[in-house]
Amino acid sequence: MMRILGIETSCDETSAAVVEETGDAAKPWTIRSNIVASQVPIHREWGGVVPELASRQHIRDICGVVDRALEDGQTSWRELGAVAVTQGPGLVGSLLVGVAFAKAAAAAAGIPLVAVHHLAGHIESLVLENGEMPLPAVVLVVSGGHTSLYLVERAGTYQLLSRTRDDAAGEAYDKVAKLLGLGYPGGPVIDRLAATGNDRAIPLPTTRLTHADRNAPELKGDLDFSFSGLKTAVLRHVRSHDTPVVADICASFQRVVVAVLIDRLFDAARRYQAKSVGIAGGVSANSRLRAELRERGVRREIPTFVPSLQLSTDNAAMIAAAGLRRFRAGRVATMDLNADAALALA
Ligand code: KG4
Ligand code: ZN
Repeated sequence: MMRILGIETSCDETSAAVVEETGDAAKPWTIRSNIVASQVPIHREWGGVVPELASRQHIRDICGVVDRALEDGQTSWRELGAVAVTQGPGLVGSLLVGVAFAKAAAAAAGIPLVAVHHLAGHIESLVLENGEMPLPAVVLVVSGGHTSLYLVERAGTYQLLSRTRDDAAGEAYDKVAKLLGLGYPGGPVIDRLAATGNDRAIPLPTTRLTHADRNAPELKGDLDFSFSGLKTAVLRHVRSHDTPVVADICASFQRVVVAVLIDRLFDAARRYQAKSVGIAGGVSANSRLRAELRERGVRREIPTFVPSLQLSTDNAAMIAAAGLRRFRAGRVATMDLNADAALALA
């Protein structure tokens, strides 16, 4: 059974993992190790990710993180069959650290290099832990940088159905947290405070798009997301109230975000006659999103897939898994591989 080293440096976590094939078609991979060095404490001081600081920190951390992943995974370089790395999308300086390292490692070890799309990694995080999803599946990838719906008709193929026209859902969490003075990252704090507030206290708008986006005419557009209006509505509420109730704002904001995400996901599931649905990415850690997904899945009698909390945020195990899938499909990268900050998923 082949083992692969995964490397992820697309944003503010430096991560390396060893994932191994199981030989079981229903649950194809198992995690031997998954090391994540988070840079959150470094960026917190600035209220968000500072790209230049991120790439410098990746350079400091990458060697130690890879060593730890191999050690924890009780795997030597000689036992690895390939190296998988996130090629994009992400911060270009950060991506370059992982890509350069992976190329050098693959060349030195004399093994193949596999280029992975970051969102393919998030989608495969669901399979890594839970086994293959019944197909066709619709997966919502929802993080600080992305809010996109993908249709998986055959394993390893990902068709973009819709995405956000402005802010990502996680970005909306982070911006709302910032304007409420709650710090960075915003998701976990708002999630916690929301539990103590009244989710109907503040009327906030939901945006329902009906027309195709001029920037993406190939998509119908009616499954697209938009969160910038919601953020502005929260800002307006805060400015027009002398003593805004933070917990009520958090609860009301979270109710609307989750309702929009779940509605679009299940709209898409119905339209494409999905046999399963999933959520992945940092925001899939959200307690209300997980609960409503489960509830709606039960009501619609459709299996729902969520990653564990460790696999919901950025990590290399998911990149290794997607890398094994791609390697088995014969898609190996060449040594002129370059990072691509705006890589499309194909
Ligand atoms: O996938 P991720 O680790 O990095 C990106 O690729 O962006 O996602 C990070 C995002 C941040 O915006 C953070 O606020 C959000 O995920 N997040 C959450 C929660 N935990 C993290 N959002 C809502 N609820 C949470 N519990
Ligand atoms: Zn991510």
